[in-house]
Amino acid sequence: MGYLTEIEAGNLLANAKQASGHTYSPYSEFAVGAAVLTSDGKIYLGSNIENASYSLTICAERVAVGNAFSSGQTKIKAIAVWSDTNSISPCGACRQFLIEFGKDIVIIFLHNKEIIQKTIDELLPFGFTSSNLK
Ligand code: THU
Repeated sequence: MGYLTEIEAGNLLANAKQASGHTYSPYSEFAVGAAVLTSDGKIYLGSNIENASYSLTICAERVAVGNAFSSGQTKIKAIAVWSDTNSISPCGACRQFLIEFGKDIVIIFLHNKEIIQKTIDELLPFGFTSSNLK
């Protein structure tokens, strides 16, 4: 599997932490940052952006992916997620969003201060993708 080294994963998490400083989350007051690593080594950031119509909220992960794509980067190797809590991992909607772009994408997050690396396929087994449409 394409897991990152501990140093690479820590660096991506540090980028996600930095992004969590630029969130718009006045309703939940829960700041989340994400950092996408593309196959050619570039990093794109995202933070959660909320709305008074709560369900329109966009998670940090989806903002980061959109940021990568809108910069011409479509090959996502990994994404790190950060919040100032003991544990965070992508919500179900984001898991579905991420698996669209490859079952081997590595998801990196902290759980009780430990760096966890899982592929999106591990986080969303039997996920629904374009191959199910054939
Ligand atoms: N949130 C994220 O941005 N990413 C996650 O992985 C979990 C939840 C955001 C959505 C909302 O703005 C806030 O965290 C509370 O749910």
